[in-house]
Amino acid sequence: MFTVYKEKDYASLSRRAAAILSAEIIHNPKAVLGLATGTTPIETYQNLVESYREGLLDFSKISSVNLDEYCNLSPDHPQSYRYFMNYHLFDRVNINKKNTFVPDGMTEGKEAAARYDALIESLGGIDLQVLGIGQNGHIGFNEPGEFIADTHMVTLSESTIKANARLFASPDEVPKSAVTMGLRGILSAKKILLLASGKNKKQALEGALYGPITADLPASVLQLHPKVIVITDCDIALQKR
Ligand code: PGA
Repeated sequence: MFTVYKEKDYASLSRRAAAILSAEIIHNPKAVLGLATGTTPIETYQNLVESYREGLLDFSKISSVNLDEYCNLSPDHPQSYRYFMNYHLFDRVNINKKNTFVPDGMTEGKEAAARYDALIESLGGIDLQVLGIGQNGHIGFNEPGEFIADTHMVTLSESTIKANARLFASPDEVPKSAVTMGLRGILSAKKILLLASGKNKKQALEGALYGPITADLPASVLQLHPKVIVITDCDIALQKR
């Protein structure tokens, strides 16, 4: 079930996303937040940091689990997702870093992946999961092709490597594999907040909302979730379902 907010631009998308996250943190000071990296949530995190500095938010009892991490980039590598989270959010608010979790991209194998799913379960599940969407319809790093339930290692698609190359000195430096929360982990979240910004996301977003549920467009599985809030600045045609 989707509730869609169409916003005029990235700034208002980010304000609304931060408002929804803030409401969660205020209502549930011990919330488990599922967090995402990428360009899209950066201003949302900035807004949360501002609210924290104004004394409106307290992260001291919040836990977080991130969606994904590149393989073989150490946590202090500036392009690793652990580094991203520290830089954009964790180092700027009063969250206890011990309660922040990012998949381990340095330890390969099924056991490390299974540990991540067990960890999420031990936290009591995710209260609110933030998601971006890839141009190819991926969520986390669940790439088109097959639905995989558990946290797993994935070979990144050419399209993802190309899209993410902008953040590296050269496309050759983009890791070719990653660890990602699987679709069961994502769909188990109590609420989902899907953010899509920019014209290049329009097609994937429309497919996710209104197309068939297909492994060719992993975000389409969100149609199976009872509570997905979508915030977008894409000019999508809203359809009744
Ligand atoms: P972006 O990535 O926010 O950098 O566009 C989103 C994604 O690929 O999931």
